[in-house]
Amino acid sequence: MAPPPVRCAAVVVGAGPAGLAVMGNLLERQLGGQIAWVDPYFQAGRVNRRYREVPSNTKVSLFQSYAQAVQPFRNVINSTPTPNAFSTMTKLDQNKGCHLSYAADMCRALTDGLLKLDQVYKCQGIVTAADLKNSSGWTVRIKTQNSLEEIEVVSPRLILCTGSSPTLLQIPVPGLSIRRLDLDVVLKPSELVTALPKGCSLTVAVVGGSHSAIVALMNLVDLARTSHPQLRVKWFTRHPLRYAEYMDGWILRDNTGLKGEAADFAREQLEDDRLPKSDAGRVIEKVDCSGGKDAAAYQAHLPSCTHIVQAVGFTRDPLPELTRNGAPLTPEFDHESGAFSDQNGQIIKGLYGAGIAFPERVVDPYNNVEYAVGFFKFMKFLKRVCPAWIAA
Ligand SMILES: Cc1cc2nc3c(=O)[nH]c(=O)nc-3n(C[C@H](O)[C@H](O)[C@H](O)COP(=O)(O)OP(=O)(O)OC[C@H]3O[C@@H](n4cnc5c(N)ncnc54)[C@H](O)[C@@H]3O)c2cc1C
Ligand SMILES: NC(=O)c1ccc[n+]([C@@H]2O[C@H](COP(=O)([O-])OP(=O)(O)OC[C@H]3O[C@@H](n4cnc5c(N)ncnc54)[C@H](OP(=O)(O)O)[C@@H]3O)[C@@H](O)[C@H]2O)c1
Repeated sequence: MAPPPVRCAAVVVGAGPAGLAVMGNLLERQLGGQIAWVDPYFQAGRVNRRYREVPSNTKVSLFQSYAQAVQPFRNVINSTPTPNAFSTMTKLDQNKGCHLSYAADMCRALTDGLLKLDQVYKCQGIVTAADLKNSSGWTVRIKTQNSLEEIEVVSPRLILCTGSSPTLLQIPVPGLSIRRLDLDVVLKPSELVTALPKGCSLTVAVVGGSHSAIVALMNLVDLARTSHPQLRVKWFTRHPLRYAEYMDGWILRDNTGLKGEAADFAREQLEDDRLPKSDAGRVIEKVDCSGGKDAAAYQAHLPSCTHIVQAVGFTRDPLPELTRNGAPLTPEFDHESGAFSDQNGQIIKGLYGAGIAFPERVVDPYNNVEYAVGFFKFMKFLKRVCPAWIAA
């Protein structure tokens, strides 16, 4: 017989940097009941699983600000014997970036600390479905890793921090024999080195012009310089390189512009006046796809490529099946409040989201609209919206 449902004050789905920040905020506000936290791994999400070798595009000080932002996090830091992930980070240059392994280790240490608290009900598994009943709130079904049964948790609040994965588009020229390279592999040099055959001519098509594309180019150029001297790259991009600009008290293109090592590499080696003479230019040929030239550019250049990596953004991972009294829901995210509405525009009670899949919409002093993706940005958003989530 299935165990009776557990009652909790909230169910948080996902233990990446966003789910962790939600937990910190809810625990700080003491909801008066346990909070169920669901994830198959509890190991800091994709940053740890996939991106430990990526250089951060945010300063170390922002990871520290994230870790110091709520009392439950500070309690974990104060009670963890040193040296630990926090003390290690304190020793880094605060004004520079770092490899994401440091940020991932910090999140894992915070996660381990929160999981020890009595107020946290750890569910290692996957939320498969959730039904909203007017009388009792959400009934959340969780397929746990240790049992063949699903367990149920009942709660007035369900918070989705389920993350996103690299967007896959169709290969722009159909019928080519070209191999796809997973973006996550290209962002991880230790895996990339074995993913590409050695000792033969290779041409990798890189599509995109933002952070992922530039880090992919950096890693491929490094490979051409070392283990794969016959590797060449065709870089398909449709706009000029765009950089974050530090203004008076705010950052222009804070979420879309290049920063950190990727920005330095792009400025020094990839700009049109640099590429012909730079080290990267010996490996990379830029293919201009701007102003509707993309179809002709792909037709002309893609057939000579052996591999393709698409660095064209991230797409939300599939959500659990969501219903209200058994009827399917198609939730629409409100990027201001973190709540969702249904297909008729009505607020869905107790359903919220955060993280790369559900980011805050921000408008800068020049009226540019962006979506705020980053550890400390999630934290800032949650500090603003969590009081309303709890009061509702
Ligand atoms: C390459 C790259 C580099 C980045 N670099 C930086 C940086 O330098 N600085 C910065 O501040 N930000 C950076 N970011 C942005 C952002 O911080 C990361 O994308 C971050 O991982 C997003 O966290 P998240 O919690 O939203 O999602 P994820 O890290 O993807 O976590 C989602 C979690 O939810 C779980 N999950 C999903 N579905 C279910 C389910 N049904 N049931 C249970 N669990 C589920 C997953 O297993 C996962 O653990 C970077 C992003 C990328 C892609
Ligand atoms: N730490 C790091 O250095 C690092 C590395 C990677 C990612 N990240 C973070 O991860 C998040 C996602 O970054 P991202 O770079 O993967 O994605 P992104 O910021 O969403 O950028 C996607 C890029 O792909 C281009 N694009 C989309 N469709 C295309 C198409 N059909 N053809 C050609 N180009 C296309 C877009 O161009 P248009 O603007 O023209 O649409 C844009 O330049 C961001 O928050 C970023 O900061 C950080």
